[in-house]
Amino acid sequence: ALKRYSTKIPEGLRRLPGPRALPVIGNMLELGRKPYLSLTEMSKRYGEVFQVQLGSRPVVVLSGYETVKQALTKQGDDFSGRPDLYSFSFINDGKSLAFSTDKAGIWRTRRKLAYSALRSFSNLEGTTSEYSCVLEEHICKESEYLIKELNNVMKTEGKFDPFRYIVVSVANVICGMCFGRRYDHHDQELLGLINLSEDFVKVTGSGNPADFIPALQYLPDKAMKKFVDINSRFCNFVQKIVSEHYITFDKDNIRDITDSLIDHCEDRKLDENSNVQISDEKIVGIVNDLFGAGFDTISTGLSWAVMYLVAYPEIEERLFTEIKEKIGLDRTPTLSDRNNLPLLEAFILELFRHSSYLPFTIPHCATKDTSLNGYFIPKDTCVFINQWQINHDPELWEDPSSFIPDRFLSDDGTEVNKLDGEKVVIFGLGRRRCIGEVIARNEVFLFLAIIIQKLHFYQLPGEPLDLTPEYGLTMKHKRCHLGVKLRDENAQ
Ligand code: HEM
Repeated sequence: ALKRYSTKIPEGLRRLPGPRALPVIGNMLELGRKPYLSLTEMSKRYGEVFQVQLGSRPVVVLSGYETVKQALTKQGDDFSGRPDLYSFSFINDGKSLAFSTDKAGIWRTRRKLAYSALRSFSNLEGTTSEYSCVLEEHICKESEYLIKELNNVMKTEGKFDPFRYIVVSVANVICGMCFGRRYDHHDQELLGLINLSEDFVKVTGSGNPADFIPALQYLPDKAMKKFVDINSRFCNFVQKIVSEHYITFDKDNIRDITDSLIDHCEDRKLDENSNVQISDEKIVGIVNDLFGAGFDTISTGLSWAVMYLVAYPEIEERLFTEIKEKIGLDRTPTLSDRNNLPLLEAFILELFRHSSYLPFTIPHCATKDTSLNGYFIPKDTCVFINQWQINHDPELWEDPSSFIPDRFLSDDGTEVNKLDGEKVVIFGLGRRRCIGEVIARNEVFLFLAIIIQKLHFYQLPGEPLDLTPEYGLTMKHKRCHLGVKLRDENAQ
């Protein structure tokens, strides 16, 4: 707290408003177990730019679409850093693209590399002309496996856990692009790894006490121990696949994203003039970020989607009817159908808005002394971006707590209102904006179009639907069991 009051405010700028802080813990108690709600409440009192004291650190919290856009796009460079948080230092061995404190030059170079590898390996031609690209091919094949698998489990157990099956399908899509391979739905190695994501996101959610109260880092903490272990297991898994790639690497046959990153390292050694020096490890390690970011985010979203379908059966029926009328039931939907299914598009936007299952972006930090809306923000200040607040701001949304996909549709239901759609913020904005956004939106669309065409989901007696999110970097609904059946029993 001392630091806050001793900071000299440059002339013409104001000191950040915010609640009074207790010694040592600061405002940690007020943050509570649902920081997206408590910080939204505080924004009503203190405004769109305010400060809380979390343990030993001042943290600036940004709310409001215009304010966040101003900070992350118009003043993008000022707010593009990452804070040096204790938990982040364990992710990808401290070399993460998304979480590390890499300075601007290195981060930007790695980000460009990641982006171009991701783009070229999702746009690549499919193995047959039936598919417009490998992304589409992977999704179509994985959804077919998924539908078979769900049928099997319904036959044997009479119920299924949506997240358990969706996560394997989604992991296989990103595994296909990153590593050129897929795993069986019962592969213990993959299951062991992807089931760790729940514990991962709990520790990486904004406001984890161990990141802000240094004393806690020296206490035995079960969640933190688990977290360190999760990260090393994750690194080992990827490392093993990367080593295999090095052995079989052939520069005339680049098979996947891992190969293309290895190839980049080889090329760079020939290039004497490259101005930013980045180790091979930090380049090939990018695949770790892509794989990690690529399955938990999308599978959490799809799992929420299934929950909403079950909670709103009349919307599920309307979505099915839209597909039946626009595509029919004889062919599988493709990515090119995306502009043709406005209700599904609106459903996805409302899913992102209402659940806001990524309530905060990954924390940012100020790269230099700066100001926002007239308030002074010193260099290195940690900044939280409250996406949940934007998505539930009554200034932007009528009846924000209700789930109403139609809010995004024109009156005749034939068009999606693109401007309103852009105000749903779940991928961040500006310099640090998610690099997987295009892939993610396409993937959520196509998986949903296919499963809605083929399947009907329903609630089971004695299995209550609980849509309360569990706080974390990505928020998950409680694990539960649902029923599902084929729309056309003769189809399989
Ligand atoms: C960063 C959301 C899917 C790769 C982010 C951020 C958010 C986000 C909120 C942080 C932005 C910030 O700090 O301001 C999502 C959502 C997804 C999704 C909601 C799915 C629905 C993906 C996929 C990939 C990916 C499929 C890659 C295959 C990344 C990477 C970063 C990132 C590498 C770090 C960017 C940086 O720090 O410069 N994402 N993401 N994401 N995302 Fe995604």
